Formats: sequence, C-alpha cells, structure tokens
Amino acid sequence: MNKRIAIYPGSFDPITNGHLDILDRALGIFDEVVLVVAGSARKSPLFSPQERVELIREVVKDRKNVRVDQWSGLIMSYAKDQGARAVVRGLRAASDFEYEFMMATMNKEIRPEVETVFMMTAQNLYFVSSSMIKELFLYGGDISPYVPELVVERLELKRKKGAFQ
Ligand code: COA
Repeated sequence: MNKRIAIYPGSFDPITNGHLDILDRALGIFDEVVLVVAGSARKSPLFSPQERVELIREVVKDRKNVRVDQWSGLIMSYAKDQGARAVVRGLRAASDFEYEFMMATMNKEIRPEVETVFMMTAQNLYFVSSSMIKELFLYGGDISPYVPELVVERLELKRKKGAFQ
C-alpha cells in the first residue's frame, strides 16, 4: 500500500507547542508527516529558514515518521514532489478561517487531488502564535509554557546578538 504522506507547511518562526500539538495529531492519521518551513510573502522572519529547520529537527528528533524540510516555491509543487495526499493546517480562532479558506481554495485549484485537512488547535493553546511568543519574550514575559525549551534558548541567543533592539 502507498504511504499516506501529509505535509505540514508553515513559517514556524519559531515553532510553538501549538504546532507540535497539530503535528502529533497528524501523526495519528498519516504514515508520515513532512514539516515544511515555507516562505510567506506577508512576513519578515526573525530566524533564517536554515535556523528554523535545524531548530525544528532538534525539537522533533525523538518522534518517528516525521521529516523536516525547507521549500521556497509553491507548496502544491512540493506536495506533488513528495507524493503527499494532504496538507495539514491548524485553525486557532475564527479569525484564521478566512485566510485559510482562501489558501486552501487556491491550493485546490492548483492541485485538486491534494486535500487540506484542518485541525482545531488545542484549547489551552488557541491564543498562542509565533508573533505573540516573540512579543511576550521581548517584553520579558514567561514563554516557557508555550514553546519547547530549545526555542527559549534560541531566542535568548538572538537577544544576545542584538536581534531585538
Ligand atoms: N498553534 C499555535 N500557533 C499556530 C498554530 C497552532 N496550532 N497554527 C498556526 N499558528 C500560528 C503561527 O504561529 C503563525 O503565527 P504568526 O502569524 O504570528 O507567525 C500563524 O498562526 C500562521 O502561521 P503558519 O501556520 O506558520 O502559516 P503562515 O501563514 O505563516 O504560512 C504558508 C503560510 C507558508 C503555509 C503559505 O504562505 C505557503 O504555503 N507558502 C508557500 C507559497 C504558496 O504556495 N502559497 C500559497 C499559494 S495560494
């Protein structure tokens, strides 16, 4: 039987426990999940794509059936290359819906055989986003309940290098 592969694209700048929750649930459905650091025209990231890939690889290293990759083209071209059946996306609040709906519809136009599978973000993490984490960190808040320990360390390093000035 063909492997059921899903891709989970995002900017992951940085990865949060909310993303990991979606990843773990996707792993319960698919044989393999490829977490893809992809470009978003709307964002100017703090971490380079290579830094994000390396950070995510370290964070997910004990999970089976996960790959981490980087892609700078159309996500549907990547899905085709990988033979993926689905794209996984997390939905947090109603405010996510319109953008996600547009993106899923456009992706369906491009590649109709690939489904977008939406999962509701865990109730205790629905308010977490990568921007919120960076802002909380910048103003001295405790981000440790919402991100892996390694993300806290990498943000500390960025601060030491003057990235938040
Ligand atoms: N828990 C916590 N936060 C979550 C979350 C979850 N389960 N799911 C999403 N988020 C947050 C992210 O942290 C992020 O926060 P931010 O906006 O503060 O950075 C936000 O929700 C959405 O980010 P993310 O899931 O990383 O997606 P994105 O909108 O940044 O990325 C791409 C969108 C990369 C998937 C999309 O632009 C893409 O496919 N790009 C490639 C080019 C392409 O094919 N475009 C589509 C053509 S129609």
